Amino acid sequence: MEQKREVWSGRTVFILAAIGSAVGLGNIWRFPYVAYEGGGGAFIVPYLIALLTAGLTLLFVDYAIGHRFRGSPPLAFRRLSRPTEAIGWWQVGICFVIAVYYAVIIAWALRYTFFSISESWGDDPAGFFASDFLQQDSEATFAFDYVPAVVWPLALVWLATIVILALGVQKGIGGSAIVFIPVLVVLFAVFVVRALFLDGAAEGLDAFFTPNWSALTDSGVWIAAYGQIFFSLSVGFGIMITYASYLKRRTNLTGSGLVVGFSNSSFEILAGIGVFAVLGYMAQASGVAVGEVVESGIGLAFIAFPTIISTMPGGPVLGVLFFVSLMLAGFTSLISIVQVCVAAVQEKAGIGRVPAVLIVGVLSAATSLVLFPTSTGLNTLDVVDNFANNIGIVTVALVTLVVITWGLRRLPELEAHLNAVSSFKVGMVWRFLAGVLTPAVLIWMLADQVVERVREGYGGLPDSLVVGFGWAVQIAIVVLALAVSFLPWPRGTALTPPPDLAPDALAAPTEGATR
Ligand code: ALA
Repeated sequence: MEQKREVWSGRTVFILAAIGSAVGLGNIWRFPYVAYEGGGGAFIVPYLIALLTAGLTLLFVDYAIGHRFRGSPPLAFRRLSRPTEAIGWWQVGICFVIAVYYAVIIAWALRYTFFSISESWGDDPAGFFASDFLQQDSEATFAFDYVPAVVWPLALVWLATIVILALGVQKGIGGSAIVFIPVLVVLFAVFVVRALFLDGAAEGLDAFFTPNWSALTDSGVWIAAYGQIFFSLSVGFGIMITYASYLKRRTNLTGSGLVVGFSNSSFEILAGIGVFAVLGYMAQASGVAVGEVVESGIGLAFIAFPTIISTMPGGPVLGVLFFVSLMLAGFTSLISIVQVCVAAVQEKAGIGRVPAVLIVGVLSAATSLVLFPTSTGLNTLDVVDNFANNIGIVTVALVTLVVITWGLRRLPELEAHLNAVSSFKVGMVWRFLAGVLTPAVLIWMLADQVVERVREGYGGLPDSLVVGFGWAVQIAIVVLALAVSFLPWPRGTALTPPPDLAPDALAAPTEGATR
């Protein structure tokens, strides 16, 4: 028998959970660098265009699928049309792969929160990170030599994820978002304000915001803007389908999407301001131009920041604020990523939430713990991350849009659904963006990435690593997704679409429509 579907208690908790999913590592450590490299102040142009044309468009597509068909991606797509179930599993596979490495970075941030207090890296943060902390072996390609200092915080991250997911959608995911998101915003705001008072902050902001308009003629900058928006908004890989499936029948979908989209971008810009104020200080302290100290991702968080923490007055406080923010932002995103897999297993196996959480949690934790806290884990993580984002998400988002628009011609149905419940109505423009413009941009992004990877490999890393953890993993996800889509659903699962919202059912007010 099909289980009763969990629901969010209201629209606010859904919005907080969706913001929790969107605001993640991508906002804090990736955006500032991508924006700076993409022309600083001028980057705002491609960034906003990407948000308005593709980001919000895909967010609405995800909301419509999840809310109309009320299921995790496999069930929602199965109800949309039988052969598309595999697309749902493909998204689940991508979520699994992202989750297993994303948790590792949160575990590092957990350790660095404590390292900040004693400035454990001494006067060599780069050497400390790679050699002392991660104990990386620069000779080996892949090894199973474990680093206990990473194993236990990683196990803790997984334990916390399992406990929160076992508590359920409203109590676990909703409850943690209600607590963590306000705490994150406050901590991060304190961090940014402190950063703005550092000497050199103005130079940092100058470097960040000074527009380099010529960057806009570089197609790579546009690709970077679209790539940033997809990952950052958590669209196209099943998360928002899953979250929207727990919304009450009449909930203002597009209105919520606008709140989530703009909150995510605001946080991103705030992160840019904070990070560049700090980088400005670092540049001034070392007597070089800001451009010379700019770093992204792992380098920014675990090498540049520790360097700054050591040189500034009250550095440990800033360090704790930064790493706790990174941890909270990452954790609420990790929960959303794993929830996609939990909901899919729960529905396909016809089992309760707790057994599904245990199956998915143990499998993910085991994979994560076997592959990454090792003496070669850093490179493995780098490859898996790059392929999941630049090849995996882009391809599945493209296939989803093409199949829905051109294969099944179901965009009008999704549009009608959105408009039946939402305050902000979508129409021809949205159909054009979802069916033509966004797929065109995705094809362009994918072609660019594939050509580059085939020609140049990735990051100068050994081919065996790039093929084994890059290409092979992405291909395996598609093959497995197809295979699982042929397995039967439990008896009693309704595989036809739930009744659509008839116009007369709309006499009752839509939650949030008037707000
Ligand atoms: N949206 C999440 C991030 O930005 C996954 O990291």
